[in-house]
Amino acid sequence: MTGGAGFIGSHLVDRLLADGAEVIVVDNFDPFYSRAIKEANLAGALRHPRCRLVELDIRDGPGVAALVDRVRPDVIVHLAARAGVRPSIADPALYAEVNVLGTVRWLEAACRLEPRPRFVYASSSSVYGDRPDAPFRETDPVDLPISPYAATKKACELLAFTFHHLHGLPVTGLRFFTAYGPRNRPDLAIAQFTGLIDRGEPVPVFGDGTTRRDYTFIADLVDGIIRAIERCTGHHLYNLGNSDPVELRRLVAAIGQALGKTPVLRHLPEQPGDVRQTYADITRAAAELGYAPKTAIAEGLAQYIAWYRASLA
Ligand SMILES: NC(=O)c1ccc[n+]([C@@H]2O[C@H](COP(=O)([O-])OP(=O)(O)OC[C@H]3O[C@@H](n4cnc5c(N)ncnc54)[C@H](O)[C@@H]3O)[C@@H](O)[C@H]2O)c1
Repeated sequence: MTGGAGFIGSHLVDRLLADGAEVIVVDNFDPFYSRAIKEANLAGALRHPRCRLVELDIRDGPGVAALVDRVRPDVIVHLAARAGVRPSIADPALYAEVNVLGTVRWLEAACRLEPRPRFVYASSSSVYGDRPDAPFRETDPVDLPISPYAATKKACELLAFTFHHLHGLPVTGLRFFTAYGPRNRPDLAIAQFTGLIDRGEPVPVFGDGTTRRDYTFIADLVDGIIRAIERCTGHHLYNLGNSDPVELRRLVAAIGQALGKTPVLRHLPEQPGDVRQTYADITRAAAELGYAPKTAIAEGLAQYIAWYRASLA
């Protein structure tokens, strides 16, 4: 699994170990956020005898090929990427390199193996672009990404199909819709807002507060990834969201409620690269994978806040 030290990856590692798998985590502890946080994410997993960490940059073609040749994995779960919409505007070349070249390295390496391993990779709701209509379906056109990050994710989807077509790689792309929960990525809104509200500092609200995101609780998302791994044959693409978008102003109020504090708001203009809404139609994942997210925002936030408090202690 690439990106196994990150937010989503570390939860997936824990779940795979609990299910009896042997997991090799590939991560280079990229400086997008602190190494210490990623080491803490993985601390439990690395005590497990069926888990091993390989520090490697996903762009290192010979390193990736040698590792895949040696390990001959049944499944490659490729989650490593430079995440984040806004920072991709500042450094698009880096995002293209890590996300696109890094993905090609793993697709190439996977196709060295006979039989082919199953290949499951992270895409993103951001590929849907800035649309007034919703919910978003996998059959919708996704040709107008509004950030370099989104464009790299769309590029990965195209390349995944190409490797499936040319080399018979069984490949499944998963469009994640804003994951949240314990170990939340520190740059994401829920983590940022929680710290600010808890400290009594103003919360930046971009736009009029009516932008909305389909926040998806991490355990539900991981359940969807596991189902996708189990059923990875041919070429597939699935939305993994909660299908219940939450407006920004409601999110801020809900975090305040979970913390028992009143948020102080600071209204700011809309941010370039940010879409107005994300909203997953999960009919396909429900029908083909049995995916059924269960966690409402209040319950998921309560679990996140409990983890946040424990991490401060
Ligand atoms: N968190 C979300 O809401 C969300 C939504 C849509 C898509 N995604 C995608 O899901 C995947 C996981 O996201 P996350 O939120 O867990 O992010 P994360 O930043 O917590 O995890 C990504 C991991 O990849 C590693 N990595 C980055 N560059 C690397 C490189 N060159 N070589 C090796 N490892 C490298 C990082 O060190 C990190 O541990 C990413 O592909 C992201 O684009 C996430």
